[in-house]
Amino acid sequence: MTKDKQTMIMQTNPKASYLASKAEIDAAIQRVLESGYYVLGQEVEAFEQAFAAYIGVKHGIGVANGTDALEIGLRACRIGPGDVVITVSHTAVATVAAIELVGAVPLMVDIDPSSYTMDVNCLEAAIAWVHNNPSMGTLKAIIPVHIYGHPANMPAIMALADRHGLYVIEDCAQAHGAVLNDRKVGTWGHLAAFSLYPTKNLGALGDAGIVVTDDPTLAEAMSIQRQYGWRQRYISDVAGMNSRLDPLQAAILQVKLQRLDWENAQRQWVAAEYNRQLSGLPLALPQLSGNIVHVYHQYVIRVNERDRLQQFLSEQQIGTGIHYPVPVHQQPAYRSRLPKDYSSLPITEQLSQEILSLPMHPYLMPEEVQRVVEQVKDWCQKTLTVSALSDFRVGAVAQS
Ligand SMILES: Cc1ncc(COP(=O)(O)O)c(C=O)c1O
Repeated sequence: MTKDKQTMIMQTNPKASYLASKAEIDAAIQRVLESGYYVLGQEVEAFEQAFAAYIGVKHGIGVANGTDALEIGLRACRIGPGDVVITVSHTAVATVAAIELVGAVPLMVDIDPSSYTMDVNCLEAAIAWVHNNPSMGTLKAIIPVHIYGHPANMPAIMALADRHGLYVIEDCAQAHGAVLNDRKVGTWGHLAAFSLYPTKNLGALGDAGIVVTDDPTLAEAMSIQRQYGWRQRYISDVAGMNSRLDPLQAAILQVKLQRLDWENAQRQWVAAEYNRQLSGLPLALPQLSGNIVHVYHQYVIRVNERDRLQQFLSEQQIGTGIHYPVPVHQQPAYRSRLPKDYSSLPITEQLSQEILSLPMHPYLMPEEVQRVVEQVKDWCQKTLTVSALSDFRVGAVAQS
């Protein structure tokens, strides 16, 4: 096959996931259309119950997207102006945007150099920093992010949160079905927010999200927040918003939830192939920390001359991604957010220069995985004669 005729290998492929369940999804859409019920109702409730049961929590509240899920979670914890929330900068901008949407101040900390999730030493230092700088506001919550499908170090984060009386809101947007110490992510914090964006491990065919919790008080607060603060129609008990999960998406998600474990297993198979065949090359492959089940929302390698590898793969019709090219604290809208005498985030900054997300989705064919492996190997042999992958400096934490 000549290069011109090669088909493109997509980095992600939500349409393939739709086609795999096309008959059931089409029937579910038809069911909603014919029901005459187009806002909330049975379809949304059925998905909420099924998803909460899947995660292993009592309550699920379907919302419009993952950013709203975080915002509604924060509002339910009564976090707002004058409050500080600690999170990471190595995340989708949504995590930080949600904190600012409720009027609180985000304090971003660095990540662990092997799991790429919140560094607990940096978290501890940041907690001390806020306590020593009370003008910043009152510390209220921590939002760890299970980035790429790798669980954050929840036992240590929960221990710190308990000691300091802080809420923990898990950002599970990239980790549907991931497990830590035999418990799914989403069961560790006081509440958890999931995006159901089409490319996520569990993705709708449009925007969608859900918040989950075991706490009935938080569940009620989130449920009324998503609809104008209504307990009773047209009477707002608290000031809320409109962020309802669309019943069409809820019906689609009921179908797709049934395939989530199978799709995660497919992702794990792809990751295992990459691990096996790319080991020994001058690349850093994903590392698993602790007793976890990684669900590989992304398979992220670190490589010197990342942009050249990305360009080369693109010429070979192989799609890749960078999640994310610019850390949140370095993006134009958020540049001023790190306090002046606060630590920099060296690991986050360095990582952003080196990461590359290889094709990763449940419907990658073995021959496609093989093509990716061969092209990466080929490029490494031609280009990376001497490996000089950066050494992450561990221990650069916020100053207390
Ligand atoms: C880590 C993380 N948090 C939050 C979000 C926000 O989700 P949504 O795009 O559904 O608003 C995303 C999705 O991009 C994400 O990856």
